[in-house]
Amino acid sequence: MKIVIGNDHAGPKLKNQLIEYMESLGHEVDDFGIGIGEKIDYPIMGEKVGRAVAEGKYDCGVLICGTGVGISIAANKVPGVRAAVCSDVTTARLAKEHNGANIIAFGERIVGIETAKDIVNAYLSAVTEDGRHADRRAMFAKIEEKYGAKL
Ligand code: RB5
Repeated sequence: MKIVIGNDHAGPKLKNQLIEYMESLGHEVDDFGIGIGEKIDYPIMGEKVGRAVAEGKYDCGVLICGTGVGISIAANKVPGVRAAVCSDVTTARLAKEHNGANIIAFGERIVGIETAKDIVNAYLSAVTEDGRHADRRAMFAKIEEKYGAKL
């Protein structure tokens, strides 16, 4: 898969470890994030990665900040983005199967690398389901339309 990853200043260590892990699985990873010692506000990074995913340039995205919350909220402001903060494998799998999450978000202050690897693996291996879940996902787009949000 072609994956984009980004982080703020609270997430560079986990970001580096996850890039190494995903590349070892054979994925192509583009790093939009910052390195150790650099600083960026998480809304800027969330929007940047969110936009790249919403434009269809990547199969999915990975975002990391201190908790995963701020950066996922920012990404979710981009129409078409469905970013899910995950701290366990079940949420990661269901976020992809049911919600069609196209970005997975982590908190470097919340999950360790071994858990994060398991979460990434569960997310990347899961397949988005059709049927009632597709109907519900279509309702996301309806909400965006209702408030005039478009890419
Ligand atoms: C940055 O210190 C921190 O607030 C940020 O990474 C994140 O946790 C916000 O949700």
